[in-house]
Amino acid sequence: MKTLNLLTLTVVAGSLLTLTAQAGILGSPHDFHSRSWNNDPSDPATVCSVCHTPHHADTVSGPLWGHTPISASGWQMYANGVSPGANIKYTPAAAPTGSSLACLSCHDGSIAVNAYGSVASSEYITNGAAISEGSKNLTHSHPISFNYQALVGTGPTQDKWLNDSVNTLVLTPDANSPGFIAGNDMHIKGFLLDQQGNLECSSCHDVHNQEGSPYNIVNNPHLVKINGTAGGVGSLLCRSCHNK
Ligand code: HEC
Ligand code: HEC
Ligand code: HEC
Ligand code: HEC
Repeated sequence: MKTLNLLTLTVVAGSLLTLTAQAGILGSPHDFHSRSWNNDPSDPATVCSVCHTPHHADTVSGPLWGHTPISASGWQMYANGVSPGANIKYTPAAAPTGSSLACLSCHDGSIAVNAYGSVASSEYITNGAAISEGSKNLTHSHPISFNYQALVGTGPTQDKWLNDSVNTLVLTPDANSPGFIAGNDMHIKGFLLDQQGNLECSSCHDVHNQEGSPYNIVNNPHLVKINGTAGGVGSLLCRSCHNK
C-alpha cells in the first residue's frame, strides 16, 4: 500500500514538473543555459543573466537590462518615408522604445546573443529571426512603439476598426485554457500593452513563454501570446485589436 502511494506521488510530481517546464522559459527558444559559451565562472549555465542583471543595468532598454544594448538612433520604422497604407494613422516613432529595443539588441542580428557579462561574443542571429535584417530596418514589420489608446481614441472620435483597449477582452482559443480565464487582466490593456499602454514587440510575443496559450510550445514556436483557433477561426491575436 505504502509503495503504491509513493508511486502515485512520483507520477503526480512528474506531471507537475512537466507543466512547470512548459510554462516558463526553460525549453523555450530563449533558454540558453546549455550553450557551450554559457560558462561564466560567476554564473554558469545561467538562464536570466543573458538578458537581465540585478545591478549596473542599462537604463534605456528593457527592465534591469544586462545584455549589450543597441543604439536608439538610425532606425527606419514602418511607414517611414513610404506610404504602404491609405488608412494609417500612427506617426512612426523615431526609434523603437520600451522593451522593443531590448528584443532588437539580439533580433537585429548585429549584436551577439551572448554579449553580456564577461562572455566573449560568438553567437549571432543570422536567419529570418533577425527581423530588422542587421540594418535597423523595421519597415517590413508591424508598427510598434506608440500609445495604443491615444491612437484609437474614445467616444465619437474612436477609430471603429480598432477595439477599445480597456473594455475589450482579448479573444481566446478556449475558455478552459490555463492562463485564459477572462477577467480584468485579459483586456487588451492588461494583456497586450505594456505599463505605459504602448504597443511593443511584447504585445504579440511572450519572451519568457510564461503566459499565453497552451499551444505555445506545441504548435507555436514563435511565442505568440494568443494562438490557435476558436470555433475553427484563427488569427485571434490580430482580431483582438483589429475589428476586421
Ligand atoms: C532572452 C532575454 C531574456 C531572458 C533570458 C529573460 N528575460 Fe526577463 N525580460 C526580457 C525582456 C525583453 C523583458 C521586457 C518585456 C516583457 O516584459 O515581456 C523582460 C521582462 C522581465 C520582467 C519584468 C516584466 C514582468 O514580466 O514581470 C521580469 C521580472 C523578468 N523579465 C524576469 C526574468 C527572469 C527571472 C529570468 C530568468 C528566469 C528572465 N527574465 C529571463 C528578456 C529576457
Ligand atoms: C539575448 C538575445 C535575445 C533577446 C534579448 C531576445 N531574443 Fe528572441 N531569440 C533569441 C534567439 C537566439 C532565438 C532563436 C533564434 C533562431 O531561431 O535561430 C530567439 C527566438 C525568438 C522567437 C522565436 C523565433 C522562431 O523562429 O520561432 C521569437 C518570437 C522571439 N525570439 C522574440 C523575442 C522578443 C519579442 C524579444 C523581446 C521581448 C526577444 N525575442 C528578445 C535571442 C534573443
Ligand atoms: C502585431 C503583432 C506582432 C508584433 C508587434 C511583433 N511580432 Fe514578431 N511575430 C508575430 C507573429 C504572428 C509571428 C509568427 C508569424 C510569422 O512568422 O510571420 C512573428 C514572428 C516573429 C519571429 C520569428 C520570425 C522568423 O521568421 O523566424 C521573431 C524573431 C519575432 N517575431 C520577433 C519580433 C520582434 C523582435 C518584435 C518587435 C520589434 C516583434 N516580433 C513584433 C507578431 C508580431
Ligand atoms: C495590440 C493590438 C494589435 C495587435 C495584436 C495587432 N495589431 Fe495590427 N495594428 C494595430 C494598430 C494600433 C495599428 C496602427 C493602425 C493605424 O495607424 O491606423 C496596426 C497596424 C496594422 C496594419 C497596417 C495598416 C496600414 O494601413 O498600413 C496591418 C496590416 C495590421 N496592423 C495587421 C495586423 C495583423 C495581421 C496582426 C496579427 C498578426 C495584427 N495587426 C495584430 C494594433 C494591433
